[in-house]
Amino acid sequence: MNAGSGVYRARCLPVNAPDYMTGQAPLDVAPDLAERRCLIMKKLGKVCEVREYLSPHRQAGRRIGFVPTMGALHEGHRSLMRAARKGCEQVIVSIFVNPTQFGPGEDFQKYPRMLDADLAACQAEGVDAVFCPPVSEVYPAGSATIVTVKRLTEALCGAHRPGHFDGVTTVVTKLFNIVQPDAAYFGQKDAQQATVLRRMVTDLLWPIEIVVCPTVREPDGLALSSRNAYLSPAERRQALSLSAALFRARDEILAGQKDVAALVAAMRERIESAGPCGIDYVEIVDADELTPLATARGRCLVALAVRIGGTRLIDNVVVDAG
Ligand code: PAJ
Repeated sequence: MNAGSGVYRARCLPVNAPDYMTGQAPLDVAPDLAERRCLIMKKLGKVCEVREYLSPHRQAGRRIGFVPTMGALHEGHRSLMRAARKGCEQVIVSIFVNPTQFGPGEDFQKYPRMLDADLAACQAEGVDAVFCPPVSEVYPAGSATIVTVKRLTEALCGAHRPGHFDGVTTVVTKLFNIVQPDAAYFGQKDAQQATVLRRMVTDLLWPIEIVVCPTVREPDGLALSSRNAYLSPAERRQALSLSAALFRARDEILAGQKDVAALVAAMRERIESAGPCGIDYVEIVDADELTPLATARGRCLVALAVRIGGTRLIDNVVVDAG
C-alpha cells in the first residue's frame, strides 16, 4: 500500500509537447531530459496539503475540476476524470470511503479498498492530484456539524437509507470547502445524489458548476458499480434484469405508454421473475423534483433499488415523455 502523502508516480509526456497548462512550446530542454518531460501526480493525505498544492493554480486562474469518489475505481469513475480533464486545467480526485453515509449493518467495513490500483487508474487518466485522507482528517474529533438537504432526500433511496444523504451532503460540503473547485463531476448512475448536490450548491450559493456525466454500463447493460464486485456469477446474471426492466420501460414510454402504475408493475414483474430479490423501490418520478408521477410527462426519472443476495444495486434511466 502507498501510505502517507507525496509523489505517486511520474506521468510522462513527450519532451516537446506543448506545456499542458499554457499550450506554449517548451522554451528549453535539458539534454538528460531529451526523451521525456515528466509531470508528477501528487498524493495528498492532509487538508493543508491540498490547500497548499492548489493555491498557486488558483492564483494563476486555472480552472480546477474535482471528482469525489470512494475508490474501487472503474470505468464509470474514469469517465468523470476524463470529462474533468477535458474541461479543466487542474484535476483533483478524492478517494475517501465516507463512514457517515453508511447506515448500521451496511457495507462500510467490507467496502472494497484498493488504493494502489486506484492511484494507477488516476495516473492513467492524467489526474494531477489525489486526495486520500484518513477519517480523522475529514471528521475532526468532536465533530458536531451535519449538512442536510430537505425534501429531495425524502424520496427514493432517502426513504430506505435513513441518514445516508446527510452523510453525502456533509462530506461533499467538507470536500468542496477543501478543494474549492470551479467544477465538480458526478455520475447519472447516482441520479438522486446528483440532484441533491446540485440543490445544495444552488442553495448555499457556491460558485461551483455541477457536471453530471452519463451512466457507464457493461456491454450487456449492467451499470458499473464498485458493489458489482460482491456479486456471484449467478447474481450478476440476475442483476441484468434491472437494466433490462429500465430499458423496456423507457421504450414503452417513448412508444406512448404513460400509465406509471402499469409501467412499474411490468418492471417489478420482470425483476422478480429473474430470481429471488428484495425490491426497495421501483419508481417513476419527476427528474428534477423527484416527486411521484401518476402519468409520465416531461423529463421522467425511472429509478430502482434492488437487493440481490446481500448486494444493494441502484440504476435509473431518464426519459423525456413529452
Ligand atoms: P462513488 O460511489 O465512488 O461514486 C463516485 C462518483 O462516480 C459518483 O458521482 C457516481 O455517480 C459516479 N459513478 C459511479 N458509477 C458510475 C457509472 N457506472 N457511470 C458513471 N458514473 C458513475 O458517489 C459516491 O462515491 C459518494 O457518495 C461520494 C459522492 C464520493 C461522497 O462520499
